[in-house]
Amino acid sequence: MDNRQDASESTSHPGGNPEFWRDELVRAYDHHQSLVSEKKEEVLNNMTRIFRFFCNQHSTADPKVLDVGCGPGTLSTRILDQAPDAVVVGVDVSDQMIAASNRNLVPKYGRRFSGHVSDFNSDDFWIPEIDRKYDFVVSSIALHYLSDQRRIPFFKEVLDHLKANGSFIACIANRSDVREIAEMEAFFRAEFTHQQLEKQRGPQDFGRVVTKCAEEDARANINWRSQQEYLASMRSAGFAKADIVWRLWLKSIFVATR
Ligand SMILES: C[S@@+](CC[C@H](N)C(=O)[O-])C[C@H]1O[C@@H](n2cnc3c(N)ncnc32)[C@H](O)[C@@H]1O
Repeated sequence: MDNRQDASESTSHPGGNPEFWRDELVRAYDHHQSLVSEKKEEVLNNMTRIFRFFCNQHSTADPKVLDVGCGPGTLSTRILDQAPDAVVVGVDVSDQMIAASNRNLVPKYGRRFSGHVSDFNSDDFWIPEIDRKYDFVVSSIALHYLSDQRRIPFFKEVLDHLKANGSFIACIANRSDVREIAEMEAFFRAEFTHQQLEKQRGPQDFGRVVTKCAEEDARANINWRSQQEYLASMRSAGFAKADIVWRLWLKSIFVATR
């Protein structure tokens, strides 16, 4: 018996909800992430280690980096701290996130960071401010908002914007296409939020937390896709070498090169 989910239920998913990342979610971003994103520090730390590894491998002294879905500059700041000559361009669909990233990073790094508003679900994503070649395109927990229609074209565009030795490093939320395992992953995600809430506020009703998590994912309009689908899309886009280097239930770090 085939226990995979019906592919037709999610064909042509529009990808994300640009209205989601605003106001309270921007103001209380770190707190929100502490409730919903298990091992976030480990993700950021590993992505920075991978960045450093490839800098060393290719003797890249002054890396140019594009951080897609940069939010308030969470990953950009770690990269800028790691490589004193790095220049990072951040891009995000949320003008409030970009205002926060510029506020957080420009006073510290000056012209080494600039944030710009653009939507990766648009064919016009590569606005002039970001349209150049990079040593790295990175993205931390954002590309699960890619639409089905844009997934392969976007990965092709990323490849076109990488220099010869360039690397694409992305942590993407994903969900198994085996229904029972997807349910288990969703359960663990709610369990993490429940534990965090109990730590911060005392006893919580688990059923209510499960419902809240599902409601929030629905509002964010995540395009849940499997690891295999992301890897296949990267390879179809022309990344000859693509693999998963780290994973935890609902998220995986992908590394792809030409
Ligand atoms: C979970 S946050 C991650 C932020 C940051 N990279 C981090 O690791 O903390 C997801 C980010 O993706 C951005 N995003 C969602 N859809 C997008 C789109 N279509 N184009 C560009 N950015 C998008 C959101 O505005 C938000 O800042």
